[in-house]
Amino acid sequence: MKLAMIGTGYVGLVSGVCFADFGFHVTCVDKNPSIIDRLKAGKATIYEPGLDELMARNIRDGRLEFTTDLAASVADADVIFIAVGTPSRRGDGEADLQYIEAAADEIAAAMKPGAVVVIKSTVVVGTNARIRDRIAAARPGVPFSMVSNPEFLREGSAIEDFLRPDRVVVGVEDERGKAAMQRVYRPLYLRETPLVITTLENAELIKYAANAFLAMKVTFINEVADLCEKTGGNVQEVARAIGMDKRIGSKFLHAGPGFGGSCFPKDTRAFAATGKRYGARQTLIEQVIEVNEARKQAMAERIVSAARESSTDTVAILGIAFKPNTDDIRESPALDIVPAVQKAGLTVRAHDPEAMEAAKAALPGVVWCNSAYEAATGAGVVALLTEWNAYRALDLKRLASLMNGNVLIDLRNVYKGEDLEGTGLDYRGVGRSL
Ligand code: NAD
Ligand code: UGA
Repeated sequence: MKLAMIGTGYVGLVSGVCFADFGFHVTCVDKNPSIIDRLKAGKATIYEPGLDELMARNIRDGRLEFTTDLAASVADADVIFIAVGTPSRRGDGEADLQYIEAAADEIAAAMKPGAVVVIKSTVVVGTNARIRDRIAAARPGVPFSMVSNPEFLREGSAIEDFLRPDRVVVGVEDERGKAAMQRVYRPLYLRETPLVITTLENAELIKYAANAFLAMKVTFINEVADLCEKTGGNVQEVARAIGMDKRIGSKFLHAGPGFGGSCFPKDTRAFAATGKRYGARQTLIEQVIEVNEARKQAMAERIVSAARESSTDTVAILGIAFKPNTDDIRESPALDIVPAVQKAGLTVRAHDPEAMEAAKAALPGVVWCNSAYEAATGAGVVALLTEWNAYRALDLKRLASLMNGNVLIDLRNVYKGEDLEGTGLDYRGVGRSL
C-alpha cells in the first residue's frame, strides 16, 4: 500500500515518518523546495525528539521519500493524506482553508480511481464534505473516498504521541475509506489503541472540541493561580488534588504564562468563529481567548514592575519556544511578552536551547545569548518562560552572582524552596509562594 503525505510540516513529517516505520511506502510532498532539499539530504526540518533516528532508518530502508512533485506522488498512491496548514484568517479568526483547497485541486487532477483522500489537518466542521464535493466536481465519475482523520499529537513529544495515542479518530463515509484507515493504523490497533469510527462532521468537531477544552483547562488553572497568589494558596497543591478526581484529570493543570503554539490560539479562534457563524456561540471559548490574551500582558507587566522595583534596565528571558522540546515559536507567549517588556524601555537578553534561529527575525532588538548564564549577566530580573530541562537544574548561586539584581520570575514553577537556599534570589513563582 502506497501513501502520499501532502504538506511536510510538523504533522506531515512526523506522520509520514511514523507510517513509513509501520512498513508502508510513504512519499512526503511539500511545495517548499528548501524543505524537500533538506529532507532529501537526510536532515530533519524541525526539532522533535526521536525524529532523526526514525527518519534515517526509513530512508535507508527505502520506505520514505521526499518530493515537490505532488502529481507524481499522488498518481500511484492508495491513500493520500492532506497535512497542510490551516492558519487563522486575518480579521474574523476563521480557519483559512486556502491551502487545503489548493492541495485538493491538485490531488483531484492527479489521483487514481479508488484513491482514499484523508484530511489530517485541523479543519472546521463541514470542510471534508465540501472538499469531497470539490474533488468530485473536478473528476466526475471517478470513484474515491473521503476520510477525516484529525491528528492529536503534541509538539515536543510528537513521535511518542503518534505511536501511542489515547485514540485514533476517523470520520468515514464508506467501506473503502474505513478499511483503508483500519489498515494504515493496524499497528496501533493491535496495541489496543481505540479506533473511533464516526462521521466526517463528528471527526471535525471532536478535534476542535478537544483543543478548545484543553485550552480552557489551562486557562482555568491560570485564573486559579491568580486567586492563589492573592490568598496565600499554592496552585500546584490545588491542581494536584483536584486532578486526583478522575472526572477532572491531572493533565493540563500547570499554571503558566498563558497558552501559545501553532494550534490552541488559532483553533480556539476558529471554534469561536464557527459557533458564531452557526448561531451556537461558544461563549466559554470566546472568554478563554480573551483571558489568555490578557494573561500574556499581565505577565509582561509583572516582569516590568519587578524591573522597576529593582531599578534595573535589563531583563533576561529564558525560553522563547511556546513549550520545551520544540523550535516552534508560533504564537509563543514570548512573542507578546518580550516586545511589551522592550516597549517599557528595558533591554532584553534572551536564550532558548533550540528556538533562537527562528526567533531572531520575530524579536528585533533582543540581545541573543549562548546560555542562560550569559543571558542573566548584568540583568536585574531573570524570567523563565519555557520549562526546558536545561533550565530545571540551573546553578542558581552562579546565576545570582552574574546578575545585577536578584529577582527570579519563574513562570513555569520549575524551582522549589530548597533550590533557592543560600542563593539570595528574590523568587516569584506562579500561583504560589515558597
Ligand atoms: P506546518 O505549517 O508546519 O506545515 C504545513 C506544510 O504544508 C508547509 O511546509 C507548507 O509548505 C506545506 N504545503 C502547503 N500547501 C501545500 C501544497 N499545496 N502542496 C504541498 N505542500 C503544501 O503545519 P503543521 O503545524 O504541520 O500543521 C498542519 C495541520 O495539522 C494544521 O491544520 C494544524 O492545525 C494541524 N495539527 C498540527 C499539530 C502540531 O502540533 N503542529 C498537531 C495536530 C494537528
Ligand atoms: C496541542 C494539543 O495538546 C495536541 O493534542 C494537539 O494535537 C495540538 O495542540 C494541535 O492540534 O496542534 P501543542 O500545541 O503541541 O499540542 O502543545 P501542548 O502541550 O498542548 O501545549 C499548548 C500550550 O499550552 C503551550 O503553550 C503550553 O505551555 C500550554 N500549557 C499546556 C500550559 O500552560 N499548561 C499545561 O498544563 C499544559
